[in-house]
Amino acid sequence: MENKISKIIAVMSGKGGVGKSFVSSLLAVNLNREGYKVGVMDADITGPSIPKIFGINKVRAQIIDKKLQPVETKTGIKVMSLNLLLEEENKPVIWRGPLISGTVKQFYSDTNWGELDYLIIDLPPGTSDVTLTVMQSVPVDYIVVVTSPQDLVNLIVEKSIHMSKMMNVPILGIVENMSYAVCPDCGNKIEVFGKSKSEQVAKEMGLDLIAKLPINSGFTQLCDEGKIELFSQELEEFASLGTKILEKM
Ligand SMILES: Nc1ncnc2c1ncn2[C@@H]1O[C@H](COP(=O)(O)OP(=O)(O)OP(=O)(O)O)[C@@H](O)[C@H]1O
Ligand SMILES: [Mg+2]
Ligand SMILES: [Zn+2]
Repeated sequence: MENKISKIIAVMSGKGGVGKSFVSSLLAVNLNREGYKVGVMDADITGPSIPKIFGINKVRAQIIDKKLQPVETKTGIKVMSLNLLLEEENKPVIWRGPLISGTVKQFYSDTNWGELDYLIIDLPPGTSDVTLTVMQSVPVDYIVVVTSPQDLVNLIVEKSIHMSKMMNVPILGIVENMSYAVCPDCGNKIEVFGKSKSEQVAKEMGLDLIAKLPINSGFTQLCDEGKIELFSQELEEFASLGTKILEKM
């Protein structure tokens, strides 16, 4: 069966560790809960972490009729990642540009995605050559940029705008992750990393700040245990990310 993928959303960040894989996975869960058919492609070949977040890291992807079969999560999200193909999950992968782009291209075209409403792509961190090669290998429709309050946001946003223009792919907006923590006693928002510049930078550069996601230690644990799909819909900021992003399309 031919793949039928309606929209492809790539999740980009300036540096590593800001929660790009987390936002990609959260978005997938959100859209899945809305009733859409969703896939996640882990294009972060050198640090693939999507299978772990969904607790499918012990499963291996099958190859049937020369097609990679995505692994389905408990709630039916289809995932493809290098970690689902490697014999040993924890071995570091040191590959260069051409090899990476070849693999990512295959993840896209040689995977039996079937019919999807949304394919979310967890890009490698940074806006360098590797990200560019990935963007060139897959027909991405939209970009979402993830930042953290510690980031040099203006630089990252500038670079992502540059890439967006080069690839002719629109940026839906910025998601600021780990924006603040909520005091368990009084419920006050604490800006752990200081005052964030995302709002101002977004405005200056003509982009939308889609959401500010707090630090939530429950989420860190869920991701660690591969149970992101179990997060409570009552966590409004996290639960509404999907619809907020769809509204920007
Ligand atoms: N809002 C949040 N609240 C709590 N924990 C979070 C939040 N966002 C991310 N984390 C946790 O922070 C860690 C880093 O997140 P993640 O792996 O998504 O970052 P990344 O940008 O994909 O990093 P890498 O560059 O290594 O791919 C993870 O353990 C994740 O569970
Ligand atoms: Mg990651
Ligand atoms: Zn307090």
